[in-house]
Order: sequence, then C-alpha cells, then structure tokens
Amino acid sequence: MRALTWQGKHDVRVETVPDPQIVNPRDAIIRITSTAICGSDLHLYDHVIPRMKSGDVLGHEFMGEVVEVGAGNAKLKVGQRVVVPFTISCGDCFFCQKQQYSCCDNSNPADKQDVSEVGFGYPMAAAFGYSHLTGGYAGGQAEFARVPYSDVGPVVIPDGIDDDKVLFLSDILPTGWMAAENCDIEPGDVVAVWGCGPVGLFAIQSAFLLGAHRVIAIDHYPRRLALAKQLGAEILDFEAVNVREALAEMTGGIGPDACIDAVGLESHGMSPDNILDHIKTATFMATDRLHALRQVILATRKGGRVSIPGVYGGVADKFPIGALMEKGLTLKSGQTHVQKYTAQLLQMILDGKIDTTFLISHRLDLEDAAEGYRNFKEKQNEFTKVVLKPRSGRRDSLH
Ligand SMILES: NC(=O)c1ccc[n+]([C@@H]2O[C@H](COP(=O)([O-])OP(=O)(O)OC[C@H]3O[C@@H](n4cnc5c(N)ncnc54)[C@H](O)[C@@H]3O)[C@@H](O)[C@H]2O)c1
Ligand SMILES: [Zn+2]
Ligand SMILES: [Zn+2]
Repeated sequence: MRALTWQGKHDVRVETVPDPQIVNPRDAIIRITSTAICGSDLHLYDHVIPRMKSGDVLGHEFMGEVVEVGAGNAKLKVGQRVVVPFTISCGDCFFCQKQQYSCCDNSNPADKQDVSEVGFGYPMAAAFGYSHLTGGYAGGQAEFARVPYSDVGPVVIPDGIDDDKVLFLSDILPTGWMAAENCDIEPGDVVAVWGCGPVGLFAIQSAFLLGAHRVIAIDHYPRRLALAKQLGAEILDFEAVNVREALAEMTGGIGPDACIDAVGLESHGMSPDNILDHIKTATFMATDRLHALRQVILATRKGGRVSIPGVYGGVADKFPIGALMEKGLTLKSGQTHVQKYTAQLLQMILDGKIDTTFLISHRLDLEDAAEGYRNFKEKQNEFTKVVLKPRSGRRDSLH
C-alpha cells in the first residue's frame, strides 16, 4: 500500500510499504477514506519528539471502511464506516475502566516503554503513528491501517454523513472539548485560549457550549484569528499587544477565570524567554519551549484554572511555579481520553450543534502529503487544516 513515512527532520515521503495484517484477534483492518495532518504531527516533522525511526508510517487522525475483522471482535462488521480515536486503549485495564483511555496500561508493548517510563515515571499508552515512545504503531496517513483493540476505539458512523463532518472525532474535536471541560467552566466565566490552530478553535467552540460567557483567543495569524472571531471569540494578536496586560484590561483588572494552552512545546514569538528557549533547545539544555504556558500561568486570575492540551514532551526551565502556587491555580492536562467523548460529540454533530467543517482549508491526494506537511508548517495562516485522501479509499472527488 501507499503510506506517508517519516525519514528524518522535515523529510516525509509517500512510499510503498507492506499492507497491514491482523495480528491479534481484537484487531481490524481499515481502508482509509480520509486522514488529516495534526499540529502534533508537526512536532514529529520538526523532530522535537524522540524515538522516531526512519520509515515510520505517520498519522493518527483517520477514518474509513472496515475491510477485515479479527475473530475476537464481536462489535465491528466488514463494510461499516468508522472513525478511529488516536489513542490506542484496551478498554479493560485500571485506567480504561476509569475512562482515562490515554493512560491505558496495556496498549504500549512492554519492550517499548523504557524511555517514557524513565522520563515520566510510568510508561505512556500507545497512539497511532506517534513514535516508538507510544508503541511504534503504524499510523493512518496511508491506504490501510491495523487498529488494535478495535472493539473499543472505533466509532461507527451512520450512513449519509460526510467524512468531513466526523473525521475530527479522531482527535482534535474531543481534544478541544476536553481542554474546555478541564477549565471547569462556571456561568459568567471568561476563558482565554492561546493558539487558534485546530485544537484552539475547537476549544473556543467547546468553551461556549460548556457555558463560557466570553472567550478571548490569542494568536498572530490573521486568518486563524478571523476563524476564532467567527466562532464568537474576542481576539488578541500577540505580536501587536502585551497579552497579559490586554487580558487584565479586558477583564476589569482581574484576569481570565480559566486559560487554555493550545500551543504546546513549539511556541512562536520573539520574546526574550522564547529566544532563550530556542538557544537552550538547540544546545540540548532543554527540550520544550514553554513561552505560551508561562504567559498562561501569569495571566490567569487568582484562584483560576489552567488547562493544557498543548503537547509537551520533556523538560524546560523558567516554569513560573511561584505564580502557580501563590495564586492557587488548578492545573489539568493530558493526552485526550478520546473514547470517553466520541458518542456524545457524534450526537452533537448529528444534532447540528457542532460543525467542524469550517476548519478544513485544503484537501490533498495522499500522494501530495509531503507538500501538505510543508505548507501546514510554513504557511499556517492559509493552511488551517489539511485533509488527505488516499486514492484507494476515495468515494468522492477532491474539491
Ligand atoms: N492533548 C492532546 O491529546 C492533543 C491532541 C491534538 C493536538 N494536541 C496539541 O495541541 C497543540 C495545538 O495543536 P494544533 O493542531 O491546533 O496545532 P497548530 O500548530 O495548527 O496550531 C498552534 C497555533 O498556536 C499559535 N501560537 C504559537 N505560539 C503562540 C503564542 N506564543 N501565543 C499564542 N498562540 C501561539 C500558532 O500561531 C498556531 O496557530 C499542539 O501542541 C498539539 O500537539 C494535543
Ligand atoms: Zn492530532
Ligand atoms: Zn487499557
């Protein structure tokens, strides 16, 4: 089959690789009809997440048609259309039973767990196409994918619903939702969101749905800020204003009740702390650039809440621990427990309460995926979300 493979920093190529096979009875094979490039993929593209190997198949946002089901899966049937959550979760372990699916203890094979166990204290769960830190599973920017524990993750999609409407159930929609849920929003709350990429935009939408009175969105790309405004947010360009001061002014000197970091470890901006972070990461003295998170913690009101969906992978310094503690902030974070939210969010899509299609700026043939990565990285203003269509899975024409 054809698949997008990682070859090194800023080098991804579509190549012919072996077709996936059923390995375990609970596996299924999916013929992929739509798959997307995520901001998280850019961390792999930039090689700031470790344990990548040349030839790894990328992609963790995908959906398609079930073409083969293992003997141990009584749930899925050949021919069904499914969206596949990016987190691979067994459904049975201590964590899955608590619906903390992205903490699953079984999906990441023991011999792959060494680095995350040393770095994070306990091993990470597995995810599709996201380095050998998360199990080294082949991803879904491909014609076919093997889905382990396929009786737990995949969401069956009713007939007649376009891929574009449901594809983002695989990651960024539940991620935006969990980011807002982690803010414990109360009536009258002002929520500020750093980053108007897909995750930030869905966090804005979710914050309103969960009862936020006002949402303030921060970025520097006009087109992304315009999308935030379209969703009802007030907007701030971090290159034009002092973000903390502007937020204080907009909230009567109090600060936002809750703040969301939808930026992660590759923060943009020419502030002194970010320049220093660049130098430190380039010289292996730190791994993550947390300029946005520093701002988030300083800007949040006393007694407020901080939610971090943005990905961080290692260690960093100048973390404002004093502000966090002295202001009595609550902090919630994590890879998304996708399976916890898919049924509810699918119903909201079907009921017309959530529309995710506004986000898609480009639809490309899977064969052009390398160009899609380059543009999603270098032209973020225009490329808000790229959806890839493998030829073998194509039902509709590209438009
Ligand atoms: N927790 C999860 O399960 C999960 C799932 C998906 C994505 N993510 C992470 O969420 C983050 C966002 O994902 P995305 O797909 O929206 O990425 P993206 O790269 O498309 O968007 C990031 C946005 O942040 C903006 N930004 C950069 N520096 C900023 C700053 N200092 N202040 C304000 N805005 C700034 C950028 O201009 C960009 O628009 C990434 O770190 C991604 O890895 C986490
Ligand atoms: Zn993603
Ligand atoms: Zn589990």
